[in-house]
Amino acid sequence: MPQFSEQFLQELSERNDIVDVVSGYVQLTKRSGSNLFGLCPFHSEKTPSFSVSPDKQIYHCFGCGKGGSVIGFIMEIENLSFPDAVGFLARRAGMAMPEENDHGESKRRERMLHLNRDAARFFHEQLKTPAGQTARDYIARRGLTARTVTNFGLGFAPNTWSSLTDAMKQKGYSERELFEAGLVRQGKSGRGVYDTFRNRLMFPVIDVRGNVIGFSGRILDDGEPKYMNSPETLVFSKSHNLFALNLAKKSKSGYLILAEGNIDVASLHQAGFDSAVASLGTSLTDAQARLMSRYVSEVVIAYDNDGAGQKAAQRAITILEKLDVRVRVLRMEGAKDPDEYIAKFGPDAFRNLLEKSENHVEYRLDSLKANFDLTSDEQKVAFLKEAADIVAQLPGAVEREVYAMRLSEQTGVPRAAVLDEVSRRRKQRARREHKEVQRTESRPVRVAEEPLKGVRIQDTEAAAAERNLIQFLCHDPALFRTREPPDAALFVTPEFRHIYEVLSERAKRGESLDPAVLTGELSSVEFGMLTTMLNAPTELSNSEKALEDCIYILRKKQHGSGNDTDLSALQKQMIEKKGYGG
Ligand code: GTP
Ligand code: MN
Repeated sequence: MPQFSEQFLQELSERNDIVDVVSGYVQLTKRSGSNLFGLCPFHSEKTPSFSVSPDKQIYHCFGCGKGGSVIGFIMEIENLSFPDAVGFLARRAGMAMPEENDHGESKRRERMLHLNRDAARFFHEQLKTPAGQTARDYIARRGLTARTVTNFGLGFAPNTWSSLTDAMKQKGYSERELFEAGLVRQGKSGRGVYDTFRNRLMFPVIDVRGNVIGFSGRILDDGEPKYMNSPETLVFSKSHNLFALNLAKKSKSGYLILAEGNIDVASLHQAGFDSAVASLGTSLTDAQARLMSRYVSEVVIAYDNDGAGQKAAQRAITILEKLDVRVRVLRMEGAKDPDEYIAKFGPDAFRNLLEKSENHVEYRLDSLKANFDLTSDEQKVAFLKEAADIVAQLPGAVEREVYAMRLSEQTGVPRAAVLDEVSRRRKQRARREHKEVQRTESRPVRVAEEPLKGVRIQDTEAAAAERNLIQFLCHDPALFRTREPPDAALFVTPEFRHIYEVLSERAKRGESLDPAVLTGELSSVEFGMLTTMLNAPTELSNSEKALEDCIYILRKKQHGSGNDTDLSALQKQMIEKKGYGG
């Protein structure tokens, strides 16, 4: 059930050159050959192993193994479904979407967004009802103003089992739609549903485009669980979104404040810190960090003042640093979180804190120091070693001097000795990074012999034959003019089987194997495997015979009757004769 015609997808790809599109996200530079290289946006790395081929119009990362067409790239980086990525690129190129094909998922998404918006309105209205009194009291107790309530679209989920369900059914939504949106749950008996959110203060989660994608509901007292979040749905992914980014992205401050709690974020905005966001009850993810880095180059972490918060801050620093985002960390004393701090000491005190918030090196050194007893010589040395490693990461010599001086004062160890240790660590790091560069640069050549990432090879012989069959299908379709491609059921390696299935089914129907049309059917990981296989050198002089050999090997495996020695001999022969394998 292809959703879009081949012709449409091909035209879409032609009108969205992959180099142009990728350049909007990744800085690409030319190296050897026709390919362009850059830092992979899908995993963190220091040296570029992400390549884009203008000829083939595909991307491929030698580091994480992902790959695909321009459509696949947009799916990954914008976190969109296939039809939505197609829509995204169609808009970009000013192309009209083929109406009759636009059914299914994107319709369901649109409908779910409508439902969420209606539910948010419903919750908001409940605040004005008599039953909403408890929530109004709670809001007042937390010091949130009417303006904040409007700004965030806060609401109240009544303490009943079906208020939302009833209201939404009246608007024409089905129980099934409510269930898929995570707004209701299935009753134990299996029949009937009940409202997911009950007796809670409701925070709609709104994405940067202004869509209500989910909800966070806080309990109105000290009960458990404190928060309930929407489950993952067609439109909601916790790890890819940030609470209040829809508001914070409009801030003129130039940085984002990353807090933990929804209440913290609301209080911060109310106090004039309009660039506060929070991750949705998870520790910061790579995707959330990337999302932030699209809007700002600096993030101030304002996590809770407890052990968990400090640990989470360390993790967030590591993730943000990899993206070249400047990180500062706020230290609050006398309050457990930004909300309490502002309530106790006022916005000016918080602004003061923001201004003197430490860059992450100071923060890390201080946190590190807390783990050591500096009165013991042994621990002093251990501390200095780790501290020197942090200082060694600073790019500026003056900065390194300053911190070395400070460490010297703290430990009583001469400055020169500290600096020595720092410079030793720098050299070590440089060597390590140099090695990494060499490894990445030699990868494209070696990749052919390397086992593919994520492939569970159970039988190397079969896997080699399978790879060859896939190559034949793509490079030598003429072979299959007179005979059908062998059945995918012959395949042993599960990952290869699916790739082959997709390719051979298309070939049987006489359809093209263009990257653009494959995107909807192969994942980016599978696509990466396919690209790697197709890039491997092949030199097949007698491909008819080689094809026969491959099929023979796989048939033997299947019947389990093959004599192993014979087979390996055959395999060896094949490889020697024709120079394929790998
Ligand atoms: P208070 O200041 O205590 O009113 O709450 P807060 O909004 O500041 O939240 P808190 O700092 O306690 O928690 C931080 C975030 O973690 C919340 O915004 C939620 O996203 C998430 N969270 C907290 N408690 C729970 C829970 O019980 N379940 C889930 N799923 N998430 C939670
Ligand atoms: Mn809090």
